[in-house]
Amino acid sequence: MPNVIEVDHPLIQHHLARLRDRSTTPTEFRALVHRLAALLAYEATSDLATEMELIETPLTTTTCRRVTQRIGLVPILRAGLGMVDAILDLIPDAEVWHLGLYRDEETARPVRYYNKIPATRPVDTALVIDPMLATGGSIIEAIEAVTAWGVPRIKVLALLAARPGISAVHARFPEAPIYACAIDPELNERKFIVPGLGDAGDRTFNTMR
Ligand code: PRP
Repeated sequence: MPNVIEVDHPLIQHHLARLRDRSTTPTEFRALVHRLAALLAYEATSDLATEMELIETPLTTTTCRRVTQRIGLVPILRAGLGMVDAILDLIPDAEVWHLGLYRDEETARPVRYYNKIPATRPVDTALVIDPMLATGGSIIEAIEAVTAWGVPRIKVLALLAARPGISAVHARFPEAPIYACAIDPELNERKFIVPGLGDAGDRTFNTMR
C-alpha cells in the first residue's frame, strides 16, 4: 500500500505479540505501548530536517546537526495518551496538543469532545498518534483538525492499522504517511480490528467491562 510504512523489526514484532495477547495485564500493556511507540517514532522521524550548527566540544569546534523545526504531537484521547511520554523522551521539545475523540458504539463514527489544537502558529510537523487505526474515522477527523491549523507536514503513527481504515484515510489524505507496527487485514461486524488487540483505551486504563 503506498505511503504506508509497516515497521518490520524483530523487537517490534516481539513486543507486538505480547500486546495482542489477551492475557497481558494493563500494567504490561502500558509498558508495551510505551516501548512500541518509541520504536515507531524512531522510524517515523528518520527524515526530519536538521540544520548544521557549530558546537564547542572540550577539545575543539565541530559542526553538528540539530533538529530545529517545531514538532507537535497530537494524541487522540484516550488511547493515544499511552504513546505520548515515549515520544517526548525522544523529542523533549515537542509540543503536545490533545484531541479528544471517542467512537460512537452504534455508528462507529468519531465524536469530538475535546480539542486543544490552537488556531494560530502551526507547527512544522505534526505526529498524529493513536494505537489503533480501525475504520480510519478518528484519524481522518484528527488530520482535518491539524490541516485546519495549517500544518504543512502530517504523519500518522498507529501501533495497529487495518487495511480498510488505511484506504479510507488515504482516499481523503493520500499525502499523509501512515507508520504502523503491523497492518491487519480486516474489521469485524463491530468495526474492531481483526486479529487486533481488543480495545487499546480500555486495556491501557484498565476499564474493561
Ligand atoms: C479507539 C482507538 C481509536 C479509534 C479507532 O478509540 O483508540 O481512537 O477507536 O477507530 P476508528 O479508526 O474506527 O476511528 P475509542 O473510541 O475506543 O476511545 P478510547 O481511546 O477513549 O477508548
